[in-house]
Amino acid sequence: MDYRDKVVFVAGGTSGINLGIARGFAAAGARLSVISRKQDKVDAAVAELQGLGAQAMGFAADVRDYEAVEKTLAATAEAYGEIDVLISGAAGNFLAPALGLSANAFKTVVDIDLLGTFNVMRAAYAFLRKPGATVVNISAPQSWLPTPMQIHACAAKAGVDMVTRTLAMEWGPAGVRVNAIAPGPIEGTEGMDRLSPNPEAVAKLTKTIPLQRYGQKEEIAEAAMWLCSDKAAYVNGVVLPVDGGWSLGGSLGMSQA
Ligand code: NAP
Ligand code: COA
Repeated sequence: MDYRDKVVFVAGGTSGINLGIARGFAAAGARLSVISRKQDKVDAAVAELQGLGAQAMGFAADVRDYEAVEKTLAATAEAYGEIDVLISGAAGNFLAPALGLSANAFKTVVDIDLLGTFNVMRAAYAFLRKPGATVVNISAPQSWLPTPMQIHACAAKAGVDMVTRTLAMEWGPAGVRVNAIAPGPIEGTEGMDRLSPNPEAVAKLTKTIPLQRYGQKEEIAEAAMWLCSDKAAYVNGVVLPVDGGWSLGGSLGMSQA
C-alpha cells in the first residue's frame, strides 16, 4: 500500500488497535495526526510514529468536547493540508451488568463511542479532501450481537454503525466514502485485557473463534488500509467484521469468558 504524502487523522490513535492502524499508515508513507485524552500517551505515540520515519503530530483532546476536537483537526489541516483518511476509534468499555451501571456509567460510554464518533466526523468534514477522502470508524461485533455485561458498548457501537451508514449516504455525493471495521478479539489490547482478563477466559474465548486465535493489530491495520485505498473505491457504508469468523457464532463466548 502506498500512502505517501496522504494525511491521516486517528481519533483515539495513541494506543492499541488505533495506534496499530496509525503505524500501518505511517509505514506506508502517510503523515499522521493522533489525538486522545492523555498528553503522555499522545507524546509516546507521536515519538513512535516518527521513529518509523513518518511525519507525525498529536494533540490531547477528549472526543466528547466538540470544540477541542475541531481545534485539533484545524491544526492538522493547517500543518499538513486536507485530510485524506479519518479514523475514529476512541472508545471506553468495561464489563458490568445493566443493573450494575449508573445512568452516568451508561452515558459515559455512549458519549465517548457514539457522540465522540459523531463529533469527530462532524468536525472533520470541513477539513476532508472532497472528493477522495475516506472515513473508517472502529465499531465492534457487539454492535449487532447483544452481549450480556456490555449493554453500554452494544448500544454505543450500534449507534456508531448507523452513523457510518447514514453518513455514507449523506457524504457519498461529495466523494467521501464512510465505512467501519468491527474487529474481533485482538491480542495485546486494553479492550481484551478488560473483557477477557485471565488465561482461562482467553482460552475459553479462543475456542469460540473459528480461526482458533486472537487477531493481531496489524491485521486490523491492513483492513483499514485496504478500505481507504482505491482498491475499495466502490465500497461505501459497510461494517466489515475482521474477527476470524468469531461473530458468526454469537456473543456468548465473550460474555461467558
Ligand atoms: P485502547 O488501547 O484503550 O484504545 C482506546 C483509545 O481511545 C486510546 O488511545 C485512548 O487514549 C482513547 N480514548 C479513550 N477515551 C477517549 C476520549 N474520551 N477522548 C479521546 N480519546 C479517548 O483500546 P483498544 O482495545 O485498542 O480499542 C480500540 C478500538 O477498537 C475501540 O474503538 C474499541 O471499541 C475497538 N475494539 C477493540 C477490540 C479489541 O479486541 N481490543 C475489539 C473490537 C473493537 P486516552 O486514554 O489517552 O484517551
Ligand atoms: N462498572 C460500572 N460502572 C463503572 C465502571 C465499571 N467497571 N467503570 C466506570 N464506571 C462508572 C463510574 O462509576 C461513573 O459513574 P458514576 O458517576 O455514576 O459513579 C461513570 O462510569 C464514569 O466513570 P469515570 O471514571 O468518571 O469516566 P471517565 O470518562 O473518566 O472514563 C471509562 C471512561 C469509564 C470508560 C474508562 O474506563 C476509560 O477511560 N476507558 C478508556 C480505555 C478503554 O476502555 N479501552 C478499551 C476500549 S474498548
